[in-house]
Amino acid sequence: VFRLRCAASGVAAHSLWLGPGALDRLPAVWRPTWRVAALVADRTALRLHGAAVLRRLRACAGGVRVYEVPPGERSKSVATWLRLADRMLDDRIDRAACLVAFGGGVTLDLAGFLAATYLRGLDHLLLPTTLLAIVDASIGGKTALNRPAGKNLIGAFRFPVAVLSDTALLDTLPPRAWCGGLAEVVKHAVVGDAELFRRLERAGGELRRPGSLDLALLARAVRVKLEVVARDPFERGRRSVLNFGHTVGHALEAATGHRVPHGAAVAAGMAVEAEVAVERVGLPAADRDRLVALLETLGLPTRSGIPFDRLGPHLEVDKKRRDGAIRLSLPTRLGRMAGARTGWTVAVDRAALRRAWERRAAAPGRAR
Ligand SMILES: NC(=O)c1ccc[n+]([C@@H]2O[C@H](COP(=O)([O-])OP(=O)(O)OC[C@H]3O[C@@H](n4cnc5c(N)ncnc54)[C@H](O)[C@@H]3O)[C@@H](O)[C@H]2O)c1
Ligand SMILES: [Zn+2]
Repeated sequence: VFRLRCAASGVAAHSLWLGPGALDRLPAVWRPTWRVAALVADRTALRLHGAAVLRRLRACAGGVRVYEVPPGERSKSVATWLRLADRMLDDRIDRAACLVAFGGGVTLDLAGFLAATYLRGLDHLLLPTTLLAIVDASIGGKTALNRPAGKNLIGAFRFPVAVLSDTALLDTLPPRAWCGGLAEVVKHAVVGDAELFRRLERAGGELRRPGSLDLALLARAVRVKLEVVARDPFERGRRSVLNFGHTVGHALEAATGHRVPHGAAVAAGMAVEAEVAVERVGLPAADRDRLVALLETLGLPTRSGIPFDRLGPHLEVDKKRRDGAIRLSLPTRLGRMAGARTGWTVAVDRAALRRAWERRAAAPGRAR
């Protein structure tokens, strides 16, 4: 089990424990002032691994209340947030409680927003149970709810007291959810670790098996995000590089009513945005081809069959937009993003984005 440090200016430093058995660190991070645990848990994660968590929580807290979250992106809603908050109020959960989030990115984003807003703020712990949540959603303090207009449009920054990323929980992930997490691992390699990218290429199709990612590689992917967040926790600039693939990815998710799950949408989004990067910031075509090949080896989509016009309204609400222009975070080569000179994001006109989308759509490969 690795212990990584999450620190940034304006944020209380906290630990992230990563590896099989990380849940055993619960007593080490539990504060004696927390009398009650409010466990906000994905229903599936609870069914598969709840006993292990509840046993450990009961050893630390005087009482444990369980708040189940139905699996699926639709739970990241104002309605679910309100229902859970009202139930916690009924249960008289007060500030002497710790909110413990247990599940994938959906549960962590929802529970994090609850922690940010309930009684104006409650301490919380993050216990991610999916690859995507370990490598991405549990790091960096972003919490969010979706609206029909788009993803993550309501939210807050709220950093946890600690993160326990127990990789032993990943063995039960269905292949689709596992591969979705691999998309964010690849994203982190492109954003900041060319050597990680090479190692992923070397491991190849082996990685498709849930639980097969080497802990050392996983830790490298986690470190890319930790380092970016440490330098710009509240996304004033640099942090937006982590959005590679997400402008198009989020629009694809929203346009399909989340039938394309997050990881798959980001994979297709990266393939399209890499196409733009070749045109706009000089990404070598060979690097784009390696990215597309790796995504396909990992069983991820690299294009979509839906018409570009269906993305349109959802591109309008992207949080990176400024002065009406769509802005993308683009790589200049594998492991390196367009930087401060361009303001970390590059304005791209709709026609260029349409060209890239249609070029990908016409390419051979896996579609979503
Ligand atoms: N806050 C952030 O910085 C951030 C970063 C990346 C992604 N996200 C968000 O994360 C979400 C996607 O997260 P996700 O891919 O984890 O999806 P998810 O939370 O929907 O989980 C995927 C599926 O796996 C199931 N599951 C969870 N743990 C399991 C386990 N151990 N074994 C078997 N099944 C299990 C869940 O029930 C669900 O059906 C998106 O909403 C995305 O916007 C947030
Ligand atoms: Zn993502």
